[in-house]
Amino acid sequence: MAAPAIILATLLVACLTQACHGNVLFSSLKRTLVVTATPKAGEVLKGGEDKVTVTWSLNGTYKGQDSEYKTVKVKLCYSPISQKDRGWRKTEDELHKDKTCQFTIVSRPYSASAPKGNFTWTIEKDIPQATYFIRAYALNAKDDQVAYGQTTNTGKTTNLFTVNAVTGRHVSLDIASVCFSAFSVVSLAFFFAIEKRKAKKSSPPPPQM
Ligand SMILES: *[C@@H]1O[C@H](CO)[C@@H](O)[C@H](O)[C@H]1NC(C)=O
Ligand SMILES: *[C@@H]1O[C@H](CO)[C@@H](O)[C@H](O)[C@H]1NC(C)=O
Repeated sequence: MAAPAIILATLLVACLTQACHGNVLFSSLKRTLVVTATPKAGEVLKGGEDKVTVTWSLNGTYKGQDSEYKTVKVKLCYSPISQKDRGWRKTEDELHKDKTCQFTIVSRPYSASAPKGNFTWTIEKDIPQATYFIRAYALNAKDDQVAYGQTTNTGKTTNLFTVNAVTGRHVSLDIASVCFSAFSVVSLAFFFAIEKRKAKKSSPPPPQM
């Protein structure tokens, strides 16, 4: 009677710890995809406004080795400069723990007969201000990563670009706070004037000593 329960519990724990899902190591993946993107090295782009076009294709060297690729998932990834002292962006070899690439740009089906694609993305407003590169993963039918490609070198030092989030969100916040301050000054003056009028009308003359 207890045995099935124990087996079930063990399975559940195994699934929760992701053993159920492939525990893929980044270091085990081959770099078979060629990934390029429009930002020039060092370019500063505006969140909520500027666009990035990403293209991906199978590197001809690996022709015929892509039979299990089902999907290409393109992601925006923090460069080492923007990960420093930030545990929540840390790179881990175990991909289910990895925090390098937190933003999905697009997912597209992969076709071995036309092993390439492109996508133009408007940088979303909520992308944090940081320095990035772009990585594409090839996923198999189980949605496990089986290969990758990226716009930077292995050391993640070349071809990085910056997203500047200051425009848009922060400007509108600034405008909102200026409006609020102006409103509070005006309303303060208004109530002050009313109080003064009331005081003039209703208060008895100051006592004469
Ligand atoms: C294709 O792969 C080969 C072998 O890994 C590599 O030397 C070459 O630079 C790659 N080509 C591109 C365009 O990335
Ligand atoms: C992007 O993909 C479309 C087909 O989806 C193709 O017609 C176009 O030439 C591609 N552009 C680039 C820059 O690769």
